[in-house]
Amino acid sequence: MNILDIIEKKKVAKELTSEEINYFIEAYTKNEITDYQAAALIMAICINGMTQDEILALTIAMAKSGDVLDLSDISNHIVDKHSTGGVGDKITLIVMPIIAALGIPVAKMSGRGLGITGGTADKLESIPGYNINISIDEFKQNIKDIGISLISQTLNLAPADKKIYALRDTIACTNSTPLIASSIMSKKIAAGADAIVLDVTCGSGAFMPNKEQAKKLATLMSKIGVWANRKTICVITNMDEPLGFAVGNTLEVAEAVNALKGKMPDDVKEVVVELAAQMMYLSGKYPKIAENRIKVMEVIENGKAFEKFRELVERQGGDVSFIDDPSKFEKAPIITPVIAEEDGVVEKLDAGMVGKAGLGLGMGRQNKDDEIDPRVGMIFNKKIGDDVKKGDILAYVHANTPESANNCVEEIKKAYVIGYRRISKKNIIEII
Ligand code: URA
Repeated sequence: MNILDIIEKKKVAKELTSEEINYFIEAYTKNEITDYQAAALIMAICINGMTQDEILALTIAMAKSGDVLDLSDISNHIVDKHSTGGVGDKITLIVMPIIAALGIPVAKMSGRGLGITGGTADKLESIPGYNINISIDEFKQNIKDIGISLISQTLNLAPADKKIYALRDTIACTNSTPLIASSIMSKKIAAGADAIVLDVTCGSGAFMPNKEQAKKLATLMSKIGVWANRKTICVITNMDEPLGFAVGNTLEVAEAVNALKGKMPDDVKEVVVELAAQMMYLSGKYPKIAENRIKVMEVIENGKAFEKFRELVERQGGDVSFIDDPSKFEKAPIITPVIAEEDGVVEKLDAGMVGKAGLGLGMGRQNKDDEIDPRVGMIFNKKIGDDVKKGDILAYVHANTPESANNCVEEIKKAYVIGYRRISKKNIIEII
């Protein structure tokens, strides 16, 4: 087989066979195909799309390009959760301890942030001492002993996706529906999930800018789930404004800990309750979604979800005094308010612009090897629908230099639209 023939075929929008797709994935993983040849093929896929057979072949080939975890000695009902990315998205930190507190095993590998979207691995690592790089044996032992382990994607899972994802990021091919669907589903299949709940974000702070495109992606991932024999539910959620009040690594961990202690922002609560209720349903242990929503709130109110998170942090070497008292997290040296310049109602707080402003603070990475500062970010006082008076504090910027603080304040001012319309908000858009 020859890569040039494969590129030529996709260039003229012909369907690739599963043999051709397997050849490309195997050879590229082994560095036998150059990045520029892979880039040409990925660009042709991005422009001409893929058929359902091609998408399934690509997903399975990428899933099998490295290790495929077998967690059947722990459970045959491992339910995983994945978000297509967002700004202020600390949902995993809240949902997973809830699920574990309800007796469903949690085996979760999370990625680092890239671009404007944050990553759970970075958030966990901002807890002093927390080890996200434990071995697979320790990972499994933690799940057996305390019912939960949260680690980073350090294992050799879907390495082909890792290479292709990094390549896509450099050739403007991140927003291709077949490529996103196969990227996400290949990782979930390799990570040993029996069932998957996908949080498909849509809006200015997400890959999918609108509901129609999010629905297309969700439908495709659900189909891949059926083909690959994984029960899959997609929850389409709103990412037009940041989730919760905090954006930034330690600031979000603190917000997540407070949420587990019962102080949960309304938008975060809506998403947490729905995702957790759907995961409970897919576990086979809790068949009634309406009752599940109540049970989710019960394990928060009786403290069991918080206790589970504390147990997890302790087990993975983290200093639990930060969980007991999140105000202990080191603060950024500069904390500057963003002041409202007019009266009105917040009509918009653009999540994409907030994410970009955060990058300028050092909150996330422009390139995958960039250092991040876990202390920087923003705390929003005013969100969509809130009344504002001239002189009110809209948000606080947490920065590490006066220059980055000033730039961020200006960016955040632009992210707000203060008008007179009271926009109604809905965080759960559709379930597929
Ligand atoms: N998340 C992924 O894992 N892959 C994508 O392509 C997009 C979001």
